[in-house]
Amino acid sequence: MNKGLLALILAAGKGTRFKSDTIKVLHPLMGKTMLHLVVETIQKLNPDQVHVVVGYQRERVKKQPFSPHVQFVVQEEQLGTAHAVQAVQEVLEEKKDKDLLIINADLPLLRPETLQLLLNQHRNDRNSLTFLTTESNRPGGFGRVIRTEDNLLRVVEEKEATLSQKKRKEINVGVYVVRIRDLLQALPKISNRNRKGEYYLTDMIEIMSREKKRVNFYRTPQVDEVVGVNDRSELARAVDILRWRKVQSLYEKGVTLYDPSSTWIDLDVEIGVDSVLYNSVVIEGNSAIGKSCTFYPFVHMVDTRVGNDVKILTSTVIEGSTIHDHAQVGPFTHLRPQTVIREGAKVGNFVEMKKTVFGKKSKAGHLSYLGDSEIEEEVNIGAGTITCNYDGIKKHRTHIGKGAFIGSGTELVAPVKVGRGSYLGAGSTITKDVSSDSLAVARGRQVEKSGWAKRKKEKEKKNKE
Ligand code: UD1
Ligand code: CA
Repeated sequence: MNKGLLALILAAGKGTRFKSDTIKVLHPLMGKTMLHLVVETIQKLNPDQVHVVVGYQRERVKKQPFSPHVQFVVQEEQLGTAHAVQAVQEVLEEKKDKDLLIINADLPLLRPETLQLLLNQHRNDRNSLTFLTTESNRPGGFGRVIRTEDNLLRVVEEKEATLSQKKRKEINVGVYVVRIRDLLQALPKISNRNRKGEYYLTDMIEIMSREKKRVNFYRTPQVDEVVGVNDRSELARAVDILRWRKVQSLYEKGVTLYDPSSTWIDLDVEIGVDSVLYNSVVIEGNSAIGKSCTFYPFVHMVDTRVGNDVKILTSTVIEGSTIHDHAQVGPFTHLRPQTVIREGAKVGNFVEMKKTVFGKKSKAGHLSYLGDSEIEEEVNIGAGTITCNYDGIKKHRTHIGKGAFIGSGTELVAPVKVGRGSYLGAGSTITKDVSSDSLAVARGRQVEKSGWAKRKKEKEKKNKE
């Protein structure tokens, strides 16, 4: 699509206004870091190469999930955006006839469609430089685009701007497409004699303009895409915009959200047609939900796959699990990582599971802990069943065969196996394997002393007299 295009993402700065121990561009917005969002946007344009300029906390930046798809270059000291571009000087020397798309890494809301329009204008007009602008009612913090009396274009940084320049609403977004040959000529002419003592990339605009190169801007009407994230309040604003984009895309896919403002769905979460989410549902990470599912209020689900026609009832927490078709989970259930709930199974009130495969149509309705277990199909887990999976040093497994009936209040001391179709008497502490089709009872025998309580009371009465 964009053959002969190189891309450069500027991400070496700390982001001082963010007041964080973590570099600004690694802060997440709905499940993805700011820089990851920018990398994804750029990749959708299919450039030949993507370079990322790193500096502050470069080792952390290099370990991100997108890292294999980009090339890193290091800017040792952060002396300004023009200085950052010089970090790829050697790469550029060999690609003089190509175009370079330069983008600040703190623009996570930009869409590839908008950047494509910028690229199209650049190519159609055969420009040396085309940069992205918009008209904003809140221009504060951005460089202002000025056309001088002798018809030169320039960008004046907020710190350098006069009062009348500050009133200008045309702002520099921080995205540039430039012919590499012209860029390489302009870069050495940029000085750091300004308020911040930095080499401003924006100075190339005036330099090229003065040298009669074809310089212009593409003004996007998409004001919502140009939110630059410099501090925490701008982060909140950006998150809000992304959230509504996600909500809108879910509506378009046939998903109902009754109260979108209290619902949080991470960007990569997929939800199938006719699924319904009540208020205060949070779904994060690498999660996917099938068709016709219902999520009741206060469900928090992370990194979980859910099939079709599944119901998740109120106040349930699910992490790293898989839930198959027609299952029902909740209310007040906690599924911990590596749990699998098979077709049509039911897990209910105050049940916790961890690393457990829970079979087709099996039921665990109340107050149980099932850990490191494999439970086959059509098993009934009575209220208060507990797998004793931990001996203080190691975890051990419990296996329950098809159709077994586990009486209420049973403790299964692992490692232990219960054969198919067996019954365990309520209140048993099972320490040995139980063979198929049997009954196992392991509890103290009931003893009754007839009239004992009556005699006790009479004795006490006598003593008082
Ligand atoms: C920059 C523009 C400004 C524009 C604004 C839009 C300049 C001089 N100004 O200002 O006109 O309106 O973006 O968002 O470019 N970076 C480096 N190395 C450095 C300095 C910065 O890699 O030495 C990176 C930062 O990590 C950041 C990006 O460049 O991702 C922009 O830097 P920032 O300090 O945020 O520039 P602004 O002051 O916002
Ligand atoms: Ca910025």
